[in-house]
Amino acid sequence: MHCRGPSAKRVAEPKEHGVHRLMNSAPLCHVAGVGHCLPNQPISNAALIERYGLASTPEWIESRTGIQQRYFVEAGQTTATLATAAAQHALTQAHLSPMAIGAVLVATCTPDYTFPSVATLVQAALGVPAGTVALDVNAACSGFIAALSMTQGLFATRPALQHILVIGAETFSNVLDFTDRSTCVLFGDGAGAVVLTRNQPGETRGLLVVEQGADGTQAPLLHSGHGVARGGIAGTVQMQGAAVFKHAVRQMGDRAATAALLAQSGYTLAGLDWLVPHQANARILEAAAEALQIPPYKVITTVGQHANTSAASIPLALSHAQQQGQLKAGQLLLLQAFGAGFTWGMASLIW
Ligand code: ACO
Repeated sequence: MHCRGPSAKRVAEPKEHGVHRLMNSAPLCHVAGVGHCLPNQPISNAALIERYGLASTPEWIESRTGIQQRYFVEAGQTTATLATAAAQHALTQAHLSPMAIGAVLVATCTPDYTFPSVATLVQAALGVPAGTVALDVNAACSGFIAALSMTQGLFATRPALQHILVIGAETFSNVLDFTDRSTCVLFGDGAGAVVLTRNQPGETRGLLVVEQGADGTQAPLLHSGHGVARGGIAGTVQMQGAAVFKHAVRQMGDRAATAALLAQSGYTLAGLDWLVPHQANARILEAAAEALQIPPYKVITTVGQHANTSAASIPLALSHAQQQGQLKAGQLLLLQAFGAGFTWGMASLIW
């Protein structure tokens, strides 16, 4: 296992194209706790193939995607129950009561209900006080980054706010077509959560810069086929896999954009300790990291164990890496996502 000590060194005055950039102001918040929840039993590739009678092999799935297993919810489990359990885990890690939470943001595109939001269900289940902000964010697989970006506005404009729960939670097993072998093998269910806590004056760790983007003209390449206003049912994953693959690698492997975000954060690519990408497919992660010239040992990869859990994949990966002892205080992380829409986003973070 590759372990690195606290090593992130902030560049005093980053210079790009001959122009000194303004340093990002001090981070508003840091990760005080991280947690996750997975359904009980992993389902291996062989078990999935047998359960749904797929014309596939475990070797095909693993060699094309890196996925060895995934988890699917069982009776009584929903996106909200996974989200609540992940949040409880993160609160325990942060030594906080739900009473201390001032906002609950849930990134998901597989909510329990069309309304109310998963966030309000989590708020009620945890006992987070009434009157707090609670809402869902749908940016598909980029939802967790989108929710992180919203925390900056909340901390900046609500001086009394001390702690925010940011959760990514999905039950993609509810939107899979189990007769389509090219999509149903890719996804899994799960939830991850972080507690973000307002920084004290002078505190330098935490969330530095968050960026996101979208290109709605690409929606036909990856969508659910149906929805509330299109047939009144959730639909199932419809994907042009090869095209999505290429777009994902191009976006997640954009070295200039990544270097620019890190420069805005006061760092360089060479100073990065961990890349924590959305866990879409091991081949996408490898190709993007190669384009970024980031060595494989700096990439947190959990897609083999969890498959693609959409908005949950980054916080799940963070919680897994934390449990493995990979993440150390003071390290520089880059979170990076790409998903349906298309949507994308990046966030720099001192752990
Ligand atoms: N088992 C066996 N054969 C399969 C399977 C399967 N599970 N799925 C597809 N095949 C077949 C295809 O039918 C095709 O057969 P054909 O040549 O007879 O038509 C053959 O394998 C090759 O298909 P390709 O689509 O070319 O296979 P590829 O190597 O591109 O892998 C995959 C397919 C894994 C879907 C790939 O395109 C991919 O990973 N795309 C990105 C998908 C992704 O990660 N989406 C997640 C959502 S977006 C995001 O999270 C970023």
